[in-house]
Amino acid sequence: MSKQLILALSKGRILNETLPLLADAGIRPVEDLGKSRKLLFDTNLSDVKLVVIRATDVPTYVQLGAADLGIAGKDVLLEHGAEGLYEPLDLEIARCKLMTAGLKGAEPARARRRVATKFVNVARRYYAEQGIQAEVIKLYGAMELAPLMNLADEIVDIVDTGNTLRANGMEPREMMADISTRLVVNQAAMTIKHDRLKPLIARLREAVAARRPAQTG
Ligand code: ATP
Ligand code: PRP
Repeated sequence: MSKQLILALSKGRILNETLPLLADAGIRPVEDLGKSRKLLFDTNLSDVKLVVIRATDVPTYVQLGAADLGIAGKDVLLEHGAEGLYEPLDLEIARCKLMTAGLKGAEPARARRRVATKFVNVARRYYAEQGIQAEVIKLYGAMELAPLMNLADEIVDIVDTGNTLRANGMEPREMMADISTRLVVNQAAMTIKHDRLKPLIARLREAVAARRPAQTG
């Protein structure tokens, strides 16, 4: 492993919330990530570099040690599996819920439920635990369309305001998991690079704590 620490960031929605948190922790890319086609960035800290990759690729980079740390949604981590990863810190950003949902007013009646989702592993586990027979159909986006088009009886997807469900004539059914963005660390790096990782994780922990509203009473 190299002497540098590589931190893998999820691009897309999480990135906009991640960069201010990193800045609060004293970690700033030396150039504007939004204005560059580059994928690997230096930071103000000489031993920390950032890579910006697809959210679903972050756990793979960290598990296999190509990155020492990563920032990814709990939904992505649940789907990927935790092997080779530590999850030392909840960054408390991009909060949402993983839920089942169906057409408004429709009963989930089928003996064998057809479920459309991008979280196929999470969905298979969940329905098995519930003792419900499910045929899980992998989609890569726009899950809310599947019941409307009679591709599926139910979906498993992220819900925040519920606006996307409502706009498509759907309603939430069962709550599956609370989701937020997490810091993950390669398990081998945590041992080998402990001296450098420990202060970095501590900085992030402090930045997260500093954002919490002050307790009253
Ligand atoms: P990809 O294009 O790589 O499949 P994506 O489109 O699923 O990624 P984003 O939509 O950018 O990725 O979402 C990234 C993460 O943000 C999700 O994994 C989840 O943790 C969180 N997230 C997604 N939707 C919401 C939402 N509506 N509100 C809050 N957080 C969300
Ligand atoms: C996410 C998710 C839902 C929506 C939920 O999609 O897949 O569709 O947000 O949020 P809401 O409950 O506040 O409506 P996103 O907007 O990230 O688009 P995507 O389909 O490209 O992932």
